[in-house]
Amino acid sequence: MQRGKFITFEGSEGCGKSTQIRRFVEALENQGIEVLTTREPGGTVVGEKIRHLLQYDKDAGDLTDESELLLFAASRAQLVPNVILPALEKGTWVVADRFLDSTTVYQGIGRGLDVSAVKAINSFAVGDCLPDLTLLLDLDVEIGHARALAASGESEDRMESQPMEFFRKVRQGYLDLAAEEPGRIAVIDASASIDEVTAAIQSEFSRRMEGAFS
Ligand code: TMP
Repeated sequence: MQRGKFITFEGSEGCGKSTQIRRFVEALENQGIEVLTTREPGGTVVGEKIRHLLQYDKDAGDLTDESELLLFAASRAQLVPNVILPALEKGTWVVADRFLDSTTVYQGIGRGLDVSAVKAINSFAVGDCLPDLTLLLDLDVEIGHARALAASGESEDRMESQPMEFFRKVRQGYLDLAAEEPGRIAVIDASASIDEVTAAIQSEFSRRMEGAFS
């Protein structure tokens, strides 16, 4: 049994990840590939509780940056052994809405925590379960913020309500990460139309994962 492929989508608020993930998974399924879609934080019962705490719980206002980092890592440490690895081992492909790059960038660069500590915690949480391909949807932060607000009906969750400067750092952090790991991370211009972004994703995917179906 050939191991499944592990593909992650990354990007900051309003970049269109959900729509593009839906289309991408549909295209894979049309080729007869079995796909499991998951998201972070979340994807397990405990992970979804952590997601709620991190995003909406009114008592989470005074979370320290360090606790926030560890909670994201805890959600992932549930997801990897319970959901992602078993699926990959039985040949199912896994498509994840965010994974460890979100922590590197949001907590390491955005919050300003020590990036080497963040990477060590990431590695403790995931072991050697790393994505085969990461599609980074890159978008101007003002446009992304306006789109995210429109989508959520003008109400922001705890992460979305960070200052614009935070998201500028996040965007640059992602681009720097992509420059460090060009073999794994493909940067997609998410300012184009939905159809154009879908086409760009398909073309990067085909170019980088040629032979993945055999
Ligand atoms: P979203 O996936 O619906 O965009 O929401 C998840 C939010 O959590 C988003 O603001 C990014 C943030 N986040 C982190 O700060 N660190 C992480 O490790 C992950 C997975 C998400």
